[in-house]
Amino acid sequence: MCYGVLRVVDNALLLLTIAVMEIIQTIHQMQVFADEVRASGKILSLVSTMGYLHEGHLSLVRRAREESDVVVVSIFVNPAQFGPGEDLGSYPRDFESDRMLLQKERVDVIFAPSVAQMYPEPSLTYVYVHLLTETLCGADRPGHLDGVSLVVAKLFNICKPHKAYFGAKDFQQQLVIRRMVRDLNFDVEIVTCPIFREEDGLAMSSRNTYLSPRERSCAQVLNQSLAEAERMVKEGERNVETILGKMREMIEAKNPDRIDYVSAVDPNTLEPIQEIKCPVLFALAAKFGKSRLIDNRLVEP
Ligand code: PAJ
Repeated sequence: MCYGVLRVVDNALLLLTIAVMEIIQTIHQMQVFADEVRASGKILSLVSTMGYLHEGHLSLVRRAREESDVVVVSIFVNPAQFGPGEDLGSYPRDFESDRMLLQKERVDVIFAPSVAQMYPEPSLTYVYVHLLTETLCGADRPGHLDGVSLVVAKLFNICKPHKAYFGAKDFQQQLVIRRMVRDLNFDVEIVTCPIFREEDGLAMSSRNTYLSPRERSCAQVLNQSLAEAERMVKEGERNVETILGKMREMIEAKNPDRIDYVSAVDPNTLEPIQEIKCPVLFALAAKFGKSRLIDNRLVEP
């Protein structure tokens, strides 16, 4: 990391010590950097992203900044987690805006490899987390979560973080990664951060930019239906079908292009539950226009 920027204000020369963020594009350089940080006894954190950063991503970065000495943010749109016909080509990208946002958050390193760097040839190795990848998004996007665990495993081996931060918005993703870390003894602590929402409750997502104003307004119903599920549970409703029925009815009233799932599952196993006794995860995915949106809420009876 290097320091030092000169700035002239009202003819006074001020020497500001501003940490200059490094941009690393090769795996070798990233590994050398990580080795040096670890050898110096500092705590290294990783926030992995696909870029087009918003406040949701930045909430993870801020938490990492508070809890560690060196913060690495990876920006890589990972082809392995997009299925045929999905939005890999059109996924929104704006590296310059990401760079400025991360500089403001005092991030130390952006790791931004090319696809050729990460996948010089197609990977013959996959990390397949059984069961947890077979429900919810795993059922609708076959291979998606295998692509996620593959790239996250690679990022852990490249960036060598002590801690890695993930959002509860992708609840299934963080659970799959936690299980991969446990099963394969990765030496990293997984930290899950709360869902960051727009003022009207819509969970922030890079894909929200695809929404037309009408779709954007209709998409609020996703969070509203989760709030309604919570209200019903708190008022004593224990029948899952009744709650899911109400949620679907609310969402259908806003004419989504598709509902992929509206589910109540055990937050540890992601198995569907019939009756509410313990904490339950309500999770949903629906498409408005071109945007497939997901959201969830953990509810304690
Ligand atoms: P991406 O969608 O860019 O998200 C990067 C991280 O930010 C994930 O951990 C995600 O859960 C978190 N995040 C996104 N929106 C959030 C919100 N509204 N509130 C809180 N956290 C939020 O998820 C991925 O990228 C990729 O699958 C990745 C893990 C980088 C692997 O390619």
